[in-house]
Formats: sequence, structure tokens, C-alpha cells
Amino acid sequence: MASTTSSTFLLPLLVTLYIVVTCAGNFNQDFEITWGDGRAKILNNNNLLTLSLDKFSGSGFQSKHEYLYGKIDMQLKLVPGNSAGTVTAYYMSSKGTNWDEIDFEFLGNLSGDPYILHTNVFSQGKGNREQQFYLWFDPTSDFHTYSILWNPQRILFSVDGTPIREFKNLESIGVPFPKNQAMRIYSSLWNADNWATRGGLIKTDWSKAPFTASYRSFNANACVWSNGKSSCKSNSHSSSSSSSSAWLRQELDLSGQQRLKWVQKNYMIYNYCIDNKRFPQGLPIECTSS
Ligand SMILES: *[C@@H]1O[C@H](CO)[C@@H](O)[C@H](O)[C@H]1NC(C)=O
Repeated sequence: MASTTSSTFLLPLLVTLYIVVTCAGNFNQDFEITWGDGRAKILNNNNLLTLSLDKFSGSGFQSKHEYLYGKIDMQLKLVPGNSAGTVTAYYMSSKGTNWDEIDFEFLGNLSGDPYILHTNVFSQGKGNREQQFYLWFDPTSDFHTYSILWNPQRILFSVDGTPIREFKNLESIGVPFPKNQAMRIYSSLWNADNWATRGGLIKTDWSKAPFTASYRSFNANACVWSNGKSSCKSNSHSSSSSSSSAWLRQELDLSGQQRLKWVQKNYMIYNYCIDNKRFPQGLPIECTSS
């Protein structure tokens, strides 16, 4: 009796576990390691990817697919302890001289001092749109979700679901917007101690090497670009994936706008849009239109 009962309950449970476990692991399917000579690793049944950096080299990976619009989520856990001088870049970019790019860059720091989350948007080869933030948590003690929503109306950077930056499509007033070049996802961990930490004042302490950053839970609801055609679908690997494409029209609701303001008021440490010294001829037009 007892064994009948347990097998009746166990079988569906095992099936469920099997689906969740096998579908969650996807680094081999979605990414390839591009450099670092063994310093980048895909582990735990494809569920975990780690990049490392030592005196001799950093490492990096890129997505196998190119995307033209998408909502891309990745969990990252950054280099712990003394990470001064290191930069973990996580971004999307197209190719060519008029490339488009959407950047997250995490600038390391001495133990206990805050990372800087640096963001930028390039359209048609032109960037110079930096915004920098501190985070409201320690990004090295656990995984957190960093998301890029890129649809025809806007680019939205979010951290654990909280929007930190919006770059609107303002083509109507002459600001180029990324919309016809597919982008790949890239990430790398490298040494940038000539500028990263307190403007280059603090150098990498190589006695702490290797430095390691970790990635998990990649999810893309995106349009995959291949052979000149875009096919929009949910690439979600969770067993409960719905192929909703609401993200293609998603905008900030009232609560999102309030949270964005909260981050910008309390955590933003640099905003190109108010850097009058840097733009003596006048601020970029996207900064002056509301
Ligand atoms: C590192 O810590 C210092 C001191 O708190 C701070 O000024 C700086 O913004 C932090 N981040 C980086 C990447 O330099």
C-alpha cells in the first residue's frame, strides 16, 4: 500500500523535476565561449557559466543567436572581495562602423566599497550616453537579474525587475534609435585598472587572482535574426513558458516610472544628460526633450 502510494506520487514529481532541470540548463545551447583559453567554463549541467581573469588573460562568451528586439534576462554574481580594477561587461551589440550597442558594465572595487554599474547606449556608432549607478545591494554576495528590454519604442535597463534607465525612441526629433541591426549578447571579464576603479587610482591586486564572475538563468523572449529574417518567439526555457510577445509593446507603467525615479534620485552617480561641462555646445537633444 505504502509503496503503491509513493510511486503514484513520485512518478509525476520525477517527471516535473526532470523537465525543470533539463530545460533550465541552456548555456551550451545559447552561448559559445569565445576567448580566455579555458578561463571561461560552462558547469553544472549547463546551468552555470563562469568567467575568470588572471594576470595573463580575461575571458568572454557570446550568444549563438543574433536578436532584433527582445527582452533578455540574465542573472549575474560579480567578482567578490577585492575586485578593484576588474570590469565585467555584459552587453548587446551589432557589428560594423555604424553599430548599435546596449551596455551594462560592472566596475569592481576594494572589499566593502561599492561597485559602479555603468550603462551606455550606442545608435549608429554614436555613444557618449553614459549613466552610472550604485546598487542597493551587494552584487557579489548573490545572483541578481539584469535585464534589457529592447523594443521599437524604447530600451529599458532593469535590475531585479526595477527599471534603472529608459532610452526612448526619439527618431521623431532626429535621435537615431537601434532598430534595424541585429545584436548579439556578449560578456567578458577583463582588467581595466587604468580607469575602472576611482578613475584608475586603484590597481588590480593580482595576488587575489583568479577573479571570477558567474552567470545563470538566461532567458530571452526575443526575435531571433537569421538569414535576413526575424522570427519572434519566446525562447524561455522554463516549462511554463508562454509565448506572449507583450514585451514588444511593453512600456513603463506608473509604478515602474516611480521606481525608475527612486533609483535615479538615490543611486544615480553620473548622468551625461546633466553634464553641461562635457557638452559646451548644448546637451544632446534626447536630454532636452522630456
Ligand atoms: C569605489 O569606492 C569609492 C569609495 O567609496 C567610490 O568613490 C567609487 O565610486 C567606488 N567605485 C568605483 C568603481 O570606483
